[in-house]
Amino acid sequence: MTRRPQGMQEVTARLGGLAYGGDYNPEQWPREVWLDDVRLMREAGVNLVTVGVFSWARLQPGPDRWEPGWLDDVLDLMHEHEIAVDLATATASPPPWFTTRFPAAALVDESGARRGHGARQAYCPSSSDLRAACADLAGRLAQRYAEHPAVVLWHVSNEYACHNWHCYCDASATAFRAWLEARYGSLEALNQAWGTAFWSQGYGDWAEVLPPRAVSYNSFANPTQQLDWWRFSSGEHLALYRNEADVLAAHVTQPVTTNFMSFFKPLDYWEFAEHVDVVSNDDYLIGADPRPDELTAMSADLMRSLAAGDPWLLMEHSTSAVNWQPHNVAKAPGQMARNSLQHVARGSEGALFFQWRASRAGAEKFHSALVPHAGTDSRVWREVVELGGHLKALAEVAGSTVERPGVAIVHDWQAWWGAELDSHPSRDVSPAPQARRWYSALWSRSVGADFAHPHGDLDGYRLVVVPCQYLVDDAAAAALAAWVERGGIAVVTYFSGIVDEHDHVRLGGYPGAHRDLLGVRIEEFVPLLPGSAVELSDGSRATTWTEHARTTTAEAVTTYASGPTAGSPAVTVNRHGRGQAWYVGTELDDDAFASLVDTLLGAADVVAPLAGLPPGVEAVRRRDDATSWLFLVNHTDASVEVPVEGHELLGDLAVAGRLTLRPGGVAVVRETDRDVGASSP
Ligand code: GAL
Repeated sequence: MTRRPQGMQEVTARLGGLAYGGDYNPEQWPREVWLDDVRLMREAGVNLVTVGVFSWARLQPGPDRWEPGWLDDVLDLMHEHEIAVDLATATASPPPWFTTRFPAAALVDESGARRGHGARQAYCPSSSDLRAACADLAGRLAQRYAEHPAVVLWHVSNEYACHNWHCYCDASATAFRAWLEARYGSLEALNQAWGTAFWSQGYGDWAEVLPPRAVSYNSFANPTQQLDWWRFSSGEHLALYRNEADVLAAHVTQPVTTNFMSFFKPLDYWEFAEHVDVVSNDDYLIGADPRPDELTAMSADLMRSLAAGDPWLLMEHSTSAVNWQPHNVAKAPGQMARNSLQHVARGSEGALFFQWRASRAGAEKFHSALVPHAGTDSRVWREVVELGGHLKALAEVAGSTVERPGVAIVHDWQAWWGAELDSHPSRDVSPAPQARRWYSALWSRSVGADFAHPHGDLDGYRLVVVPCQYLVDDAAAAALAAWVERGGIAVVTYFSGIVDEHDHVRLGGYPGAHRDLLGVRIEEFVPLLPGSAVELSDGSRATTWTEHARTTTAEAVTTYASGPTAGSPAVTVNRHGRGQAWYVGTELDDDAFASLVDTLLGAADVVAPLAGLPPGVEAVRRRDDATSWLFLVNHTDASVEVPVEGHELLGDLAVAGRLTLRPGGVAVVRETDRDVGASSP
């Protein structure tokens, strides 16, 4: 099954607007509460609920029991009250009878210990018993409810790999060997790719090949074996998803999804996204983060990118606190709506939550919900009702897409896995914080970004950021160089382009993959200890990483003025064809970084969607062929004035040239007289 680009539009067409609702777990409540639920859902404007995610034990209380009657009643009740259903295949967490009956399907950790049931997702993704049971359950539900009028979307399992990203059991080892055989064809090729001449690791028989289980103390498993293990494990979860999606495809016509988890390292979502009809995401604020709203935007931009710019769906976020962080900070008044509308601004076709009604029991009983423990006489409920009204007022944006940003940040799971392997020059170097830093600089200037696969089409962007993309294959390196040659501006940061897809160093001076493009040759890495810094020729300071390097064809913008690499270039620019290739070989201080970003945006002629935006106001534009809508989010504590003209949809007010946004406020303006249809940039 391949992605259906119109999948989300099919859902919103059935809803008649944007989606609003969340996970609904009626099995946790007596039936009389269900009636209260539908009444309150109507009151809040809820039009879509996800049902059955954790219902396996209730649907099949034992291996030979099948009790779907209660689900029939729930779906009928929803339909009767005009609430649509995203129906789960209920396979997210096998019940205790399953792991008791099939002990070999249990999750095994790297030291060989079998993990028990009693939490959730305690299974091995490669288990054939598990796959058979999931396919069976998905098939029963698909056959029973394919025609049910409430069902508008199918939800396969839940958050694949969240708690069982790698399983090291014997069945996984067998599957890993088969995967390796298919990838390499012969043991010789595997030995070559894994570099097993090192440390006497040569394999003479496939049976000797193992997952990278816990190894001798204070040592390191073979890095390419580890890298392949990440690849294999991501693929096993995708195969488990497809095992069910294929069953659904044989019975149902509604689109199919499974919920992603933003920047979740274990799963290569570029690959996964090819196989879902609707890209959907769960995004939870990290309370300890200094700028959690920025992370919200970043996660939403990743989802839009995975959906290739098509509409996607925010499947879960929280009305207030979660339960799984060390300190579960409650959202401030207005923050929930701000977060929801940030996602909608960035292409989500609605806002769904975990969960409808706060549980009384279980590990998530202190997780917020649309209906909190306090009931409807509560701030959260009042804001929930208000948000329902807002989303209804935004029905007309359904089906529109986000104006394409001028900047792309390359994000590759393979490079991420590679960069974070052990025994590297510095443990402080990783693409994740690098990408965040660049994204943050763009976000604070209200400049949007897409994320790009290294093999993705870069045409249409004016600036491409390559943050610490340690591993790159020849094709991606060549494509980047060709794009710059055609006039693009690329900025490549340190520890990029160092190894090939087998994690073999590209020889002849770093960064082997981009040496010619950047016009720089690095002889030696000189990482800095935590807390130490060096000076650059412009008076700024830099941390984390330095290098003994020289320019070949590039021009040095700054050089190291102190420290072990004094005299070497730190930031360089190389003219390449009609474009420019910048290299940033160290971690710049905040001022130097900000000024570099301004220089690059200026050179690439990338601007915010609106001139004259006050600082701290996020602005994103959605558009269709005839209309454009500007979403404005005020992240400051002060009222601000925004120069815009049109009709503000949340307050239903005409705006004649100047809009006042209260502190923390959100506005959505249907703009007058914009040149819609012209795609930007
Ligand atoms: C997600 C999950 C939900 C719930 C929620 C709590 O990981 O899909 O079932 O656990 O987080 O934040």
